Parts: sequence; C-alpha cells; structure tokens
Amino acid sequence: MDNKEISQAVIGRLPRYFRYLGELKDEGIERISSQELSDIMKVTASQIRQDFNNFGGFGQQGYGYKVEYLYEEIGRILGLEKTHDLIIIGAGNLGQALANYMNFERRGFLFRGIFDQNPELYGKKIRNMEVRPMEEMESFVKQNEIDIAVLTIPKAGAVKVAERLVDNGIKGIWNFAHVDLNVPKEIQVENVHLSDSLMKLAYNINRYESESIQTPGSSL
Ligand code: NAI
Repeated sequence: MDNKEISQAVIGRLPRYFRYLGELKDEGIERISSQELSDIMKVTASQIRQDFNNFGGFGQQGYGYKVEYLYEEIGRILGLEKTHDLIIIGAGNLGQALANYMNFERRGFLFRGIFDQNPELYGKKIRNMEVRPMEEMESFVKQNEIDIAVLTIPKAGAVKVAERLVDNGIKGIWNFAHVDLNVPKEIQVENVHLSDSLMKLAYNINRYESESIQTPGSSL
C-alpha cells in the first residue's frame, strides 16, 4: 500500500482513528459500521469513508469494518508495527513528565535515555533511567541506534543540539522547543506547541460565546 500521496490532513486524523479503534478492540468489539464509528468519534460517516478510501477502503458493504483488522492496518500505515528507540534531551519539568508517561511504550516508542547539560541532574533516576551528560549523547545515539529525539530544552540551545543529533544518525525529532529547526529534509520534525492548542480553545470559547449572544437560545 503506497501512502506517499496521502494528504497530511488525512495522516493527521489517523492517530485518532487508531486510538478509538484500540479502545473498541480492548472492549472486545469485533466489527463496527461507519455510522457507529462516526457517532463515537463525532466525525461524519462520509469523512471516515473518504479517509479510509485513501488506503483502499478496509470496509465491506453491509458488514462495516473489522475493528482489529482496521486497527492493525492503520497502525501499519503509521509505522507502528516497528518499534522506535527514543531519547529525551532536557530533564526538566517537561522532559521528566514525558519520560514518566508509560503509554508511549504501548505504541512502540521505547524510552532509552535522558540527557541534560546540568551537572546537578547527572545520575538522577527518572523512570529507572539515569540522567546522562550531553557529552555522552553522540556516542549513545550511535551505539544504541536511537532514531527519535525529544527536545525539551529552551530554544537557545535547540538548533545546535538538533544538528548534533542529525550528525549522529537521528531520523526524527519531536520538538517541544519554541524554535524552528534547520535540519535536512530527510529528517522528520514534528513540532509540538501546547499553547497553540490552548489558543485554539480560547478562540472556540470566544466564538461560541459570541454566537450565543447573537442568536440567544441557539445553544440549547
Ligand atoms: P525546565 O527549565 O524545567 O527544563 C529545561 C531543562 O533543559 C533543564 O534541566 C536544563 O538544564 C536543560 N537544558 C537547557 N539547555 C540545554 C541544552 N542545550 N542541552 C541539554 N540540556 C539543556 O523547563 P521545562 O518546563 O521542562 O520546559 C523545557 C522547554 O520546553 C522550555 O524551553 C519551554 O519553553 C518548552 N516548553 C514547550 C512546550 C510546548 O508545548 N512546546 C510546553 C512546555 C514547555
């Protein structure tokens, strides 16, 4: 199955489908119609069909979707049948919170190490992993074939650290630093800005409130 042509918008929706299907699977549900999936996910049934058609459908007329099959296929498209070895750079509040979040491992993202430049943190155990000095980062990445780095450091150091990671074979960066990284195009970067999501929430609260004022009672 070739997913080169699939739009980023569709790819962006796949993790959510994957999550919901995983929950259905855990509940022992074997099949689901696109209408039922639509009701649970609050996405139109036609959107679901359109999205899945990008990958050849998965559904059977009058039968719906096989939950486990769909879950596995979407996981495969997302590349989750492989495991990924991951390190965290920056053992502060955010780095420690992510390191302590066990659920990533369920998805095949294996936490291998955590690094910081602050000597006071060296040796401190975070989920049974000692914080290592940055001087060890390059050799660690190479020796352990680490493919993903999570950047939870301030923007001042992030560009330089990203270059060092790329020079040592990292394939993807999950970037929480508030700066655009300048990396070669074969390196995948996923920028995460929690505040963007919060601003979207603020916008939607405002929009909802102004619509309710314009059309009183419409929200009931
Ligand atoms: P923090 O101050 O608790 O931790 C930062 C850690 O990074 C410290 O332990 C520090 O020693 C280390 N560090 C700094 N420069 C480094 C370098 N060049 N190499 C290795 N280690 C280095 O900060 P916190 O709360 O964990 O946040 C980390 C960064 O993430 C901040 O810059 C913050 O702006 C950003 N952030 C981004 C969010 C997002 O949604 N994108 C959300 C929260 C924080």
